[in-house]
Amino acid sequence: MSDQAELTVDGKNYTLPIVTGTEGERAIDIARLRSETGLTALDPAFGNTASCESKITYIDGDKGILRYRGIPLEAFAEHPNFVEVAWLLIFGHLPNLTEYESFSKELTENANLDEDMKHHFAGFPRSAPPMAILSAMISTLSCFHPHLFELDGADQFEKAAARLISKIRTLAAYTYRRSRGLPYIYPDPKLPYVSNFLHMMFSEVYGPYLPEPEVRSALNLVLILHADHEQNCSTSTVRMVGSSQANLFASCAAGVSALWGPLHGGANVKVIEMLESIHRGKQTAREYIDAAKDKSSGVKLMGFGHRIYKNFDPRATMLREVSEKLFARLGVDDPLLEIARNLEEIALSDDYFLERKLYPNVDFYSGIILRAIGIPTNMFTVLFAIGRLPGWISHWHEQNSDPAMRISRPRQIYTGNPLSNYVPMEDRI
Ligand code: CMC
Repeated sequence: MSDQAELTVDGKNYTLPIVTGTEGERAIDIARLRSETGLTALDPAFGNTASCESKITYIDGDKGILRYRGIPLEAFAEHPNFVEVAWLLIFGHLPNLTEYESFSKELTENANLDEDMKHHFAGFPRSAPPMAILSAMISTLSCFHPHLFELDGADQFEKAAARLISKIRTLAAYTYRRSRGLPYIYPDPKLPYVSNFLHMMFSEVYGPYLPEPEVRSALNLVLILHADHEQNCSTSTVRMVGSSQANLFASCAAGVSALWGPLHGGANVKVIEMLESIHRGKQTAREYIDAAKDKSSGVKLMGFGHRIYKNFDPRATMLREVSEKLFARLGVDDPLLEIARNLEEIALSDDYFLERKLYPNVDFYSGIILRAIGIPTNMFTVLFAIGRLPGWISHWHEQNSDPAMRISRPRQIYTGNPLSNYVPMEDRI
């Protein structure tokens, strides 16, 4: 196979290098296209643009493969441990015992928020969207830990990463408690990451919440399955913001905002709203599918389709299995699960979805699991953010460790007015 592409423009020939990734994926390197030809590349929504080279996550969307640092996602299912996966993504290898214990210690020591941060929660209306609070409060962390702006050395970076991963679950839990008018529950240093989060969410001042092991395990796996997905919208946002040398907290706060949208992480909320509307009898599953096929309706089958996967999203397959096991263990009988299965069955035997290769994505079953755990619907995307944070941090770090990093700055093709005259106010019609 050739390692060069030929381009002919206005009768002139140019040679562009082809780069090949570990798994054989190939891309034309157009970094010198403009300087050599005077042309740029137009690719709205970046459907054909590799924005960087990365060693973190590999996806084969046609085969439904997802690997973190080379390890298939399925390998984490038996003993799911979110902290281990966070380390793997950020530092590039599975932690040995010393690394794992030291990182866990950092997480434990940094779980508390500065007491003054609590006043900020009180300034939001109780009905405020949790993603708005989360983004604002992650930015606010920059004010309380300014010494972590200038990361001089690996040790400082590890501290900043641990601080953020630890505090995001406290921020999330306090957001929920405040929205319900409940007292804040301090983190318990004896509890591991996920149990501590559940404790801060659901314990009472007069009694601890003791989750079933299956709940802890399911939540660990849900977070792992969300932990990274290469250059998705929020991760690309974190990289874009980070490319201006904005600090880790500011960059991740921007990632939260990008994740909030209903076409990205916000889809997990929309899926439940869709299932609930079918459950309430507003329309049947068949009618919903028909509306999703009708472009003029503005309706989409939420939790279906993906820019990269043109086959089953492996995360959806794993979440479906987890939901079945968890429901059996907890004795939950959620009618929404049946509706989801029914929608999936109808869609996967319909030519519209088959021809376009639209399959369930990660958001299709995640909400059903979070509901069974007791997480309210408006917190689902916050849970996605907790899961995705190690991915954002690892991409920010990978980019900022590259001595060749430049500020990200796409170009455009201007299609507005040609040169026009300024018309004084009194002469305007
Ligand atoms: N329902 C109905 N039609 C759809 C859907 C859907 N969920 N998804 C895609 N299509 C259609 C789309 O209109 C297009 O039709 P046509 O070829 O006739 O114009 C065709 O399928 C191909 O779409 P695409 O180019 O593959 O879609 P995209 O890459 O621009 O968008 C997406 C990807 C995920 C935003 C989109 O599939 C969608 O809106 N899905 C519903 C929202 C959702 O579940 N989002 C979560 C994504 S996974 C987790 C995450 O990233 O956060």
